[in-house]
Amino acid sequence: MKIILIGFMGSGKTTAANILAKKLGLEAIEVDQLIQERSGRRSISDIFTLDGEEHFRDLETAVLREISNLDNTIVSTGGGIVMKNRNRAFLKKSKVIFLKTSFKVLEKRLRDDNSRPLFKDKIKAKKLFNRRKNIYEKWSDHIVITDKKSAAEVVMNLLKYL
Ligand code: S3P
Repeated sequence: MKIILIGFMGSGKTTAANILAKKLGLEAIEVDQLIQERSGRRSISDIFTLDGEEHFRDLETAVLREISNLDNTIVSTGGGIVMKNRNRAFLKKSKVIFLKTSFKVLEKRLRDDNSRPLFKDKIKAKKLFNRRKNIYEKWSDHIVITDKKSAAEVVMNLLKYL
């Protein structure tokens, strides 16, 4: 079994993946963490600043390809993974669940966050959110709405789809 969590920045993919993996005795994989390790940079922000977003996207696809044949894993992805056609074939090999969070909630959660280069400018982030929201729906098998839910409640909802 491989479950892939998708959704916008701050939707709680990594937290949910870690809790779910622990509950099921599976391995949690965070795509961004592997990207950072492969990049030789200290952070995702550094990759964006020093190498550019396209290099980040290439690493993202390479990591997705690398883990595509692993089984028994819960994968949390970066919010932009659905934007490249080349990534979608990998997503389709697994069960994909969209963690759907309103922009209002995301904005609150990420108020003091400096780790996400694409959320620094709130107006641009909102545009990105609007551009992506239907794409997450299109490329997911299931949707879990996370607004007003604790991480544990989100995980309870995820369990329904396994
Ligand atoms: C991105 C989301 C980030 C990270 C990178 C780009 C995006 O991951 O991959 O900053 O394009 O939405 P999170 O969704 O885990 O914040």
